[in-house]
Amino acid sequence: MIALGCDHGGFDLMQEVKKHLEDRKIEYKDFGTFTKDSCDYPDYGKKVAEAVISKECELGILICGTGIGISIAANKVKGIRAALCTDCFTAQATREHNNANILAMGGRVIGPGVALKIVDTFLDTPFSNDERHIRRINLIED
Ligand code: RB5
Repeated sequence: MIALGCDHGGFDLMQEVKKHLEDRKIEYKDFGTFTKDSCDYPDYGKKVAEAVISKECELGILICGTGIGISIAANKVKGIRAALCTDCFTAQATREHNNANILAMGGRVIGPGVALKIVDTFLDTPFSNDERHIRRINLIED
C-alpha cells in the first residue's frame, strides 16, 4: 500500500500518479488534499509520514508545488527519509543508498512524463542492504 499526499500545487500531478498506480494495479491510500483549493502542505506531509511510520503503508509519495515544503515537513517525523527527486537517477540512488521511504516531487517543476518514470523507478528499486549504507542511515536515526 502506497500513501499519497499533496497540496493544491501538487494536485494535478497527483491525479496522474493515481491513474498510473491504478494501471499498474498498485494499491494506494489517498490522504488528500481532495480539491484544488489552497491548503497547507505540512498537514499532508505529516499524514503520509505517519502512515509510513505506523507501517499502515510501506512507502509514500508526496507532491507540492516544488516538492520542497512537503518533503521538509515529512522529514520532521522520526524515521522518515523523504527524497525530493526530479530525475530517475536520484530516484534509484535514494532507494539503493538512503532506503528513502517517501518520494517527493514538485508539481510545478516536472511534467507527468518524467514524474511517472520517477515513480516507477522509486517503487521498483529495492534498498541495496549494503553495510555502508545501513551504517549511514543508522547515523541519521541516531
Ligand atoms: C504553495 O503555493 C507552495 O508554496 C507549495 O506547494 C510548495 O511549493 C511549498 O514548498
